[in-house]
Amino acid sequence: MKYISPIQTSNWKKLDEHFQNVKDIHLKTLFEQEKGRFEKFTINTESLFIDYSKNKINSVTLDLLLQFAEEMKLKEEIEAMFSGDKINQTEKRAVLHTALRNFSGKAVYESGNDVMPLVEKVRKQMKDFSNKIHSGEWKGYTGKEIKHIVNIGIGGSDLGPVMVTEALKPYKVEDIESYFVSNVDATHIAEVLKKIDPETTLFLIASKTFTTQETMTNAHTARNWFLENGGNEPDIKKHFIALSTNKEGVEKFGIDPANMFEFWDWVGGRYSLWSAIGLSIALNIGYDNFEELLKGAHEMDNHFQSTPFEKNAPVILALIGLWYNNFFNAETEAILPYDQYLHRFAAYFQQGNMESNGKSVDRNGNPVNYQTGPIVWGEPGTNGQHAFYQLIHQGTKMIPCDFIAPANSHNPIGDHHQKLLANFFAQTEALMNGKTEKEARKELENKGLSSDEIEKLLPFKVFKGDNPTNSILLKKVTPKSLGSLIALYEHKIFVQGILWNIFSFDQWGVELGKQLAGLILPELDHDNPVIGHDASTNGLINEYKRMKEK
Ligand code: F6P
Repeated sequence: MKYISPIQTSNWKKLDEHFQNVKDIHLKTLFEQEKGRFEKFTINTESLFIDYSKNKINSVTLDLLLQFAEEMKLKEEIEAMFSGDKINQTEKRAVLHTALRNFSGKAVYESGNDVMPLVEKVRKQMKDFSNKIHSGEWKGYTGKEIKHIVNIGIGGSDLGPVMVTEALKPYKVEDIESYFVSNVDATHIAEVLKKIDPETTLFLIASKTFTTQETMTNAHTARNWFLENGGNEPDIKKHFIALSTNKEGVEKFGIDPANMFEFWDWVGGRYSLWSAIGLSIALNIGYDNFEELLKGAHEMDNHFQSTPFEKNAPVILALIGLWYNNFFNAETEAILPYDQYLHRFAAYFQQGNMESNGKSVDRNGNPVNYQTGPIVWGEPGTNGQHAFYQLIHQGTKMIPCDFIAPANSHNPIGDHHQKLLANFFAQTEALMNGKTEKEARKELENKGLSSDEIEKLLPFKVFKGDNPTNSILLKKVTPKSLGSLIALYEHKIFVQGILWNIFSFDQWGVELGKQLAGLILPELDHDNPVIGHDASTNGLINEYKRMKEK
């Protein structure tokens, strides 16, 4: 099947013309021109309130974007994903992370088989296991209860569990401490090993493939540490658990197959926190809270699947993102959560988005001649305000931002939360309205500056404004609302992949570096100079050999 290129659609051409007419209209003017803009450009899902009115769009823009989505057959593609079509064509796989959080009672078919019995079996296994750990029924090799959980994994087998564990700290089960080891840099595991006790530690080896160099290296180091610090081979089954799709690899490593929590190749690594990969989450916050997280995502899945596009949150956010990426040539997008617990949210979606949509070949196998996925970054507010917001306010680049905030804090101390939210509201207002020369002049006059000083300072005090933002409000960061928020961004990525006509669920781009590292590793074992690479790589390796302490 031949897929249409987005830039060949009739609506792309219309959008291009429309862009020329509206690109210079200031956001403030858009508000003046269109009454009822807030009511029109907001969406209320069960858990989230999304205001996208502070964007450089008007009703015509939105209509054209929505027609463009229709022309790209988005409806059909959404159905194809949910119904288990092998939309990850380069790996011949279905994309069914939505089945992991399906509570509709309906079957989900993959290659003709209903996957729900498998999903429910693993959910039950996770529930029973979590309960055993929390009740103290599961004992370590000296009869003590488990107190430390160490998740060893990287990328999708790490970032999701880390982000959610941090985000849901208020729900943490008492007496369980969780640690995450991902980097192959020994420092990462060494620092964790200093804090734990082999008698009370459970290692979760989280790897879809069970072949990833970083994870396997850390897993072997953990096992050696365990054996050198009192544990014996037969005790491994009480302290090592595998979360994987690769049964053979798990057995080869020496983990009891009974201690394996399975998932399947139709779960992408960066979409896997809903699967057995989420065991560290369930152990941290309790299985029932983990299930609430799944239910929050299911709520967003239902919204995504059944809401008309004009009120469909992932679709709207995707279209707006594309509008900036492809028409305004914005290169990055910032995610700015006003919640300290969400401090890994942007990092999580950096992988989610950039590994999914960082592609330059379309679904027909041809190089694209338009921009695809943006650079995603961000930090929590208000810290970011004192770091990089200067560039967003007064720099030369357009940086569309998503502001996310809960209406209620888990830590209602004094007026902290009011102050946090005052900043949240103020920033999007400032980014939109800016400060005119007239306003800046008045301020300086009120300060009593001389007219000479005013003229000198004035250019620096002006803010052009016109910086677009989305604001996402949730009542509180709960397992359910977080699940919904994550699924919102996941679906946004999927929608954009369709609109850019790229495959969002493979990641061939990470392979080359892995291959070359595999070739270089044995060359670092000896002292002979290397000559087989380019001059720079040879030079660097040989310099390293010279510097290396013998
Ligand atoms: O970085 C590439 C990648 O394949 C990610 O997609 C994945 O999340 C990560 O490596 C870890 O892979 P695994 O779970 O197989 O160890």
